[in-house]
Amino acid sequence: MKRRKFLKSLLAVLGSTTVVSFAYPLVRFIAPPGKKAEAERLSLRKDEIPAGESKEIVFNNTPAIIINRPGKGYIALSKVCTHLGCLVEFNKEKGSLICPCHAGEFNLDGKVLSGPPPKPLAEFPLRVEGESIIVG
Ligand code: FES
Repeated sequence: MKRRKFLKSLLAVLGSTTVVSFAYPLVRFIAPPGKKAEAERLSLRKDEIPAGESKEIVFNNTPAIIINRPGKGYIALSKVCTHLGCLVEFNKEKGSLICPCHAGEFNLDGKVLSGPPPKPLAEFPLRVEGESIIVG
């Protein structure tokens, strides 16, 4: 009799474990975790980036750069090269962004000028409010 009781208990435990292991993923699928965290938002003063200058930032865990393009205003671009992911550098004299790995070159709008990168640099939303530059 003891053996029978033990086997019943063992089956109950195994059955419960099996039910939970199937039910949990189903519940997570039906009711996913809460809303994603709000996207990052970054604010700088306009006088931090004079015309023709740039400032490096990290936005949403991505190395990025804000450039004050003479006559065209501010732009926020990812520094991650679209070829193999090296970080591009702002070249003030040439007015472009150059990748040190395979000499990919982007203009200050992030578009490819030359080299192997297959697509433009990612651009982040940016707006100017009064004396502030807001990215995100
Ligand atoms: S990683 Fe930038 S050009 Fe190759």
